[in-house]
Amino acid sequence: MSSILEILKNNFDASFFKTSKEDLLKYGKDWTNFIPPNPLIIIFPKTIFDVQKIVQLANEHHFVLVPSGGRTGLSAGAVAAQNEVVVSMDKMDKILSFNELEQTIQVEAGVITENIKKIAEENNLIFPIDFASKGSSQIGGNIATNAGGIQVVKYGLIRNWVTGLKVVTGRGEILELNQGLIKNATGYDLRHLFIGSEGTLGFIVEATLQFISPPKNKQVILFGHPNIEAVIKTMSTFRKKIDFLAFEFFSDSCVDYVMEHTQVDTPLPQRFPYYSILEFESNDGKNNDIVFQLYQELYQEKIILDDAFGSDSISIKKIWGYRENISASISSFSPYKNDLSVTISNIHLFLLEIEKVVVNHYPLFKILWYGHIADGNLHLNIIKSNDISISEFEKKCKEVNILIFEIVQKYKGSISAEHGVGLLKKSYLEYSKSQEEIFYMKMIKNIFDPNHIMNKGKIFDA
Ligand code: MLT
Ligand code: ZN
Repeated sequence: MSSILEILKNNFDASFFKTSKEDLLKYGKDWTNFIPPNPLIIIFPKTIFDVQKIVQLANEHHFVLVPSGGRTGLSAGAVAAQNEVVVSMDKMDKILSFNELEQTIQVEAGVITENIKKIAEENNLIFPIDFASKGSSQIGGNIATNAGGIQVVKYGLIRNWVTGLKVVTGRGEILELNQGLIKNATGYDLRHLFIGSEGTLGFIVEATLQFISPPKNKQVILFGHPNIEAVIKTMSTFRKKIDFLAFEFFSDSCVDYVMEHTQVDTPLPQRFPYYSILEFESNDGKNNDIVFQLYQELYQEKIILDDAFGSDSISIKKIWGYRENISASISSFSPYKNDLSVTISNIHLFLLEIEKVVVNHYPLFKILWYGHIADGNLHLNIIKSNDISISEFEKKCKEVNILIFEIVQKYKGSISAEHGVGLLKKSYLEYSKSQEEIFYMKMIKNIFDPNHIMNKGKIFDA
């Protein structure tokens, strides 16, 4: 180990490193629980050539690198548990250029996502990727995990908004991929391989991102529902008639945590088992009429039991707070997280089957449901009861996971819709991907990273 430290210190001055126990703990993990961090050292490259040098040294001297962004990941993709060298992008945080004609921005990988969104807004545009951790996540990490969030139903995943990437491969070469082009039909698009690769093929060091015009006249409604079926019925009723900007849901079990954490009142005067939030563009009032008519029908059928409306920025923010703050509000309770998805047509049957398993096998734990139901993406969070240890809790959750993932497999769904695989979900990959597909994924890894220096052990053991 000391020789790896010596090699790094012979090539970079002291300003490149953090070595205190506190920093090793901080930079050696993401927002995942359960896997204790144990990195060797944290290095902070300042340029692409520094990254390239680090990769060259790792290949030459056989040590493993863990790329690290804002560390907001939830699948342990950025956890260094095996004495790896953590390569933080914190110092590669420059906004390189904004192109007004193309409505694109070129940034280094360490730029905080919210800063990119602010620049878009200053130019009367939007960067249409929105999730609760945007204030601390970095764009490189978001791209490496193909981030989603609450507006995927309208704008798609981050993949849709990356028009160019600069990467340093695991072999140490710098590749410029797609160069900001809108059209480019020249064979394999390696940019898309790096998006979602979780740092296993190389480092994303720069990105070109597309902005677009903002929606006009946003309206938001929060609904209270008697059960989960009512949430699905509401979503599918609106989905058939209007092109919404977002449709999210959460169970009442989430509400106490958010109220406690953010010091807010109940979402509606009375509590209901489930809530949903619909966001749509008013569209010269046309959508309002459709929404109002559908709302009345659903209200009469007792599918919707109450509602709160938001059309100015303060009321919209307040409503979204109930959904967006769930993750932060529960994080100190070490929830066991699942991030499942199926096609929207299957969501009803899928959810009912999963719920049966969960109710039968977790009688003592608190079950929290929330997520992006209009994308077919459900977050199932289990919170430990006080009378069992963390390790017993984890063991139990892993057993139940198998039953849940068998249902995922049956519906041809995904074991990780938007949080990635990392270390946490890798032993379940085969529930979502065939042996043959995993074989090809490993072959691709071997091409870009033949010595397995890049985030070794994440996604799969290559
Ligand atoms: C969310 O939708 O709130 C995020 O994916 C984070 C989480 O699942 O906790
Ligand atoms: Zn989510």
